[in-house]
Amino acid sequence: MVTEKLKPASNRPDENPLDSEGLYPDPEKFLGKDYIDLNILKKLVGRSILSVDQFDKKTVLELCKFAALLETTEIAASHPLDGKIIITAFFEASTRTRLCFESAVLRLDGKIISIPTGMVTGVAKGESLSDIGEMFNAYGDLVVMRHTETNAVDEITKNLRLPLINAGNGSGEHPTQALADWFAILKWKPKLKEAQVKHKHKIHLGILGTPGSMRAVNSFLRMSLLFKSGIRKISIVSEMADPLGPELAQMLEQSGISFSLSNDINEVLSDLDVIYMNSIAFLGDSYKTLDSRYKLDRESNLKKDAVVLHPLARLDELDPTLDGTHHNLYFTQAHGAVFVRQALLIAVLNRFDRLPEKQIPLSN
Ligand code: CP
Repeated sequence: MVTEKLKPASNRPDENPLDSEGLYPDPEKFLGKDYIDLNILKKLVGRSILSVDQFDKKTVLELCKFAALLETTEIAASHPLDGKIIITAFFEASTRTRLCFESAVLRLDGKIISIPTGMVTGVAKGESLSDIGEMFNAYGDLVVMRHTETNAVDEITKNLRLPLINAGNGSGEHPTQALADWFAILKWKPKLKEAQVKHKHKIHLGILGTPGSMRAVNSFLRMSLLFKSGIRKISIVSEMADPLGPELAQMLEQSGISFSLSNDINEVLSDLDVIYMNSIAFLGDSYKTLDSRYKLDRESNLKKDAVVLHPLARLDELDPTLDGTHHNLYFTQAHGAVFVRQALLIAVLNRFDRLPEKQIPLSN
């Protein structure tokens, strides 16, 4: 089915919302004339989203196509989340993820109950997370939670009977960040969605960070393995002796993707097509800033068309002089996260029937 001429979404300005800072790839080019396969997305109905390992490539692709559609379609008037209450429970600081989820919900006409910091809850008096989970059952329809502790997901799900979206658990995972990351990459290079990718289109992916202890990088690497048909090589650059840990090392080896480990970005930088970097490493209960040797700026020896992704917040490893260049995919990555999260919320809450039929190329 070919869609009618779609109106731009009210939440997407006609012009580059980034005011020409960086790359802003067109979501319609990624979407093409494809259907969105509802049968695949409906498998997410009522499910919690805790780890990237729950996803296969088809589901990620359908979610990203759906997100691209939401980015280019006026659907606010259909009130897709009308009557739904989302609890955003953040027991750890966040700029993007909480506000992005809340923006996604409000733009779909859902309602929010928000915990911006755990210390405004009974946690301040010693209340357990499992008891808080039992309370949430009565207050909302879905919970988005971030927590400092990796086992927080296990704790809250002891009593929680609502779908839970993991918005970052300690040094564990950040699965919706990985969806936002790959949404940006796929918009930048739509050929990567194909089952067979010609060698000349395959990417050399560089990861600056420690996937074994940084949740965003962990989830990004796991999701990247789903797109192995489009990856020529993965180079991991970290100051840690063992940046992967045994599980990720085994996953990488079993994927068959060529990969290398290094502690010097300059060994690989000039050959990288995509550079995924992160600023902060979890070390036990604390963060550690990365060595300044890993800093990128406008003078770095980047390949002509290389793009840089960063889940943000950045520290001095990603210099603002890159913001105004075509290497900057990190602002698109952050901006597009709203649409990915909208796609996920509509799927988990099964609100496909609220979408404007004439504008949505859905197949049953
Ligand atoms: N990307 C990300 O998780 O950012 P926040 O910590 O600001 O939510």
